[in-house]
Formats: sequence, structure tokens, C-alpha cells
Amino acid sequence: MIVKANAGVLGTGHYVPERVVTNADLEKMVDTSDEWIQERTGIRERHFAPDGVNTSDMCTIAAKQALDMAGLSPEELDMIIVCTLTPDMTIPSTACIVQKNIGAKNAAVFDLYAACSGFAYGAITATQYIQSGMCKNVLVIGAEILSRYMDFTDRNTCVLFGDGAGAAVFGQVPEGYGVLGADMGADGNGGKYLNIPSSGVAILPTDEARAKHLTYIKMDGKEVYKFAVKVMGRTAEKALTRAGLSHEDIDLLIPHQANIRIIQSAAKRLHLPMDKVFVNIHKYANTSGASIPIAMDEANRQGRMKRDDIVVLAGFGAGLTWAGLVMKWY
Ligand code: ACO
Repeated sequence: MIVKANAGVLGTGHYVPERVVTNADLEKMVDTSDEWIQERTGIRERHFAPDGVNTSDMCTIAAKQALDMAGLSPEELDMIIVCTLTPDMTIPSTACIVQKNIGAKNAAVFDLYAACSGFAYGAITATQYIQSGMCKNVLVIGAEILSRYMDFTDRNTCVLFGDGAGAAVFGQVPEGYGVLGADMGADGNGGKYLNIPSSGVAILPTDEARAKHLTYIKMDGKEVYKFAVKVMGRTAEKALTRAGLSHEDIDLLIPHQANIRIIQSAAKRLHLPMDKVFVNIHKYANTSGASIPIAMDEANRQGRMKRDDIVVLAGFGAGLTWAGLVMKWY
């Protein structure tokens, strides 16, 4: 492909619902302890959306913040990609609802399904449209209300997830800046390790499906863990190689926030000290597709990225899927 423009981040935003649920709160629901959760995952608390608040509502708030920082009006967006596994409904797409909410009348829109790798997949997709010259400004949002798919009788999963949304506007940046390299992939054989059986047309959410808890997240934590420690560092390395860089060039790694031990093992593989790794899992738990953009916005607003810094995003998730992205911050 002839690259007509370089694609980089022009603005970021995020939103998490007000309600905080601590490990102590979960101790009252299932046989668990604050000590176990913190030691095994790094999570202290998470946020849950109240009834009546939907994924599109959180997307809308995060999107407005990102547009504001980018200094763009909604009409200047050519595309909106919402990366989520918890859409408001199947049709219309959540991206259509966000388009209406923010008044982005010139944007083509769609939802993208890649679970926790979703935002990285979306960012790579946005980059292609900008590099080809087809789009100038693309809004990518990762957002989830996972609390509505959590089984609060299953301690193996209900302590791990939270709700939230993060957004980034990708647009044209000068040559040498923005996305320099990327990697994405999937292994459909691993679908059995992490799924919500009754969340589509295969098993409809009947009373029977609900009684069997099939409308909730099912996970083989050990298998997902083994996969995650293997792919998170590897996808970052592949993206770095494609950018003509190595781990020594990384100024900040923004990993998917699923488990502090998985993050630490990716950092080790990349020979990175933890002060070059952005971590906020203790506050939000695993917000799936929202985790990387929430972290990127927090890091951005804290001044953790400076012009010329090499910033790496790395994610993995259900599917199984993975994706990595290397950017020179502008
Ligand atoms: N509280 C107390 N004990 C618990 C809890 C809990 N919340 N959950 C599990 N245990 C118990 C288990 O029952 C087990 O007990 P047993 O030995 O008597 O059977 C014991 O703790 C150890 O369980 P393990 O599964 O070995 O614990 P592990 O250290 O592997 O941690 C965890 C489990 C946190 C789930 C880990 O495997 C993990 O993080 N896996 C990856 C999960 C992940 O990243 N998922 C998200 C993917 S992204 C997406 O697309 C949504």
C-alpha cells in the first residue's frame, strides 16, 4: 500500500461509572478474600454501571473528551469504530448510537469484535484507513459493561472484570510520527477457553439458558493465563520488529490490564522495568476492550507520553486474539 498519510493519536478520553465495588464487597457475595484477589490479580476495586446506563452512554462521554483534546468537531470524523463485546444491542450497532449521540453525521460507523484485543485491532484498522487516504479522522472507542455478563456465584470469574470506556481520535501526523508498526492475530481453537455461551443465536437466552448460567462469562483461567503470558510480549516484539525498533526503544508499554502477573511477565520478556509499564488494574480490574484506551488516556493526561516517545500497546483476549501497536508519540 502506498502510504498517503501517517496516522497517530490526536486526542484521548475515558469514562468509568461512579459506583465502585471493592474486593471487600465481593467477599460478601462469594467465597473469596481481598488478599487472594490482590495477590493473584493485582485488583483492588472495579466500577460497575448502574441499570439504565448502556455501553453507548459511556462511549459518548469518552468520545466527547477525545474530540475535545483533538480540537475537532464531530462533523470532522470520517469513521467511528466501537470495539466491544457488550454492545447495547446487535442492531443498530453501538457505533451508530454513538454517531447519533455526538452528531458525527459524516462518519461511517461499525462495531468491531475482538474482545480484549478489540481496541488494538480497532487502532490498527483506523491506521489503515488513514494511511490509504480514505479517512482523515477516525474515532476508536473501546467500551464494556461486563458486569451484566458476570456470574456472581462463580468466584473464578466474578472478581476479575469491570465496566468502562476509553476513546482515541486517530488522525494525520507528520512523517516519522504515529503508528510505525503493528501485529495482530487469532487462534480460533482457543474459543473454548473463554466465552459467553448464550450471547448470540447459537443458544438463545431463554429461562433454561439463564437457569444453567449460560448467559455468563465462562473461563478456563489457567489456559487463558498460559496463552496470555506467551502472546502479550510476543505481539509487542513483532510490532517493534516491523517498526524497525527493539525493546530497548520502548519508553512506555500500555498493556491490556487483565492480571498484574501477566503484565509483569510481558515486561520481563521485553526487558522493561515496571516504571516503563502503565498499570491501573488495581482501580478498574479487567475492562476488556476498554482497558487499553482507558490506560492510554490516563497515561496521556498524567503526562507519561512526551513527543518522540515510543509507546507500545499490547493486548490479548477471547477468541483467542492478540494485537500490538508501536507509535512514536506526537
Ligand atoms: N477467591 C479465592 N479463591 C479463588 C478465587 C477467588 N476469587 N478464584 C479461584 N480461586 C481458587 C481456585 O478455586 C483454586 O482453588 P483449588 O486449588 O482449591 O482448586 C485456587 O484458587 C487456585 O486457582 P488457580 O486457577 O490456580 O489460580 P491462578 O493463580 O491461576 O489465578 C486467575 C486465577 C486469576 C483467573 C488467573 O488464572 C488468570 O488471571 N487467568 C487469565 C484470565 C484472563 O486474563 N482473562 C481475561 C482474558 S481477556 C478477555 O477477552 C475478556
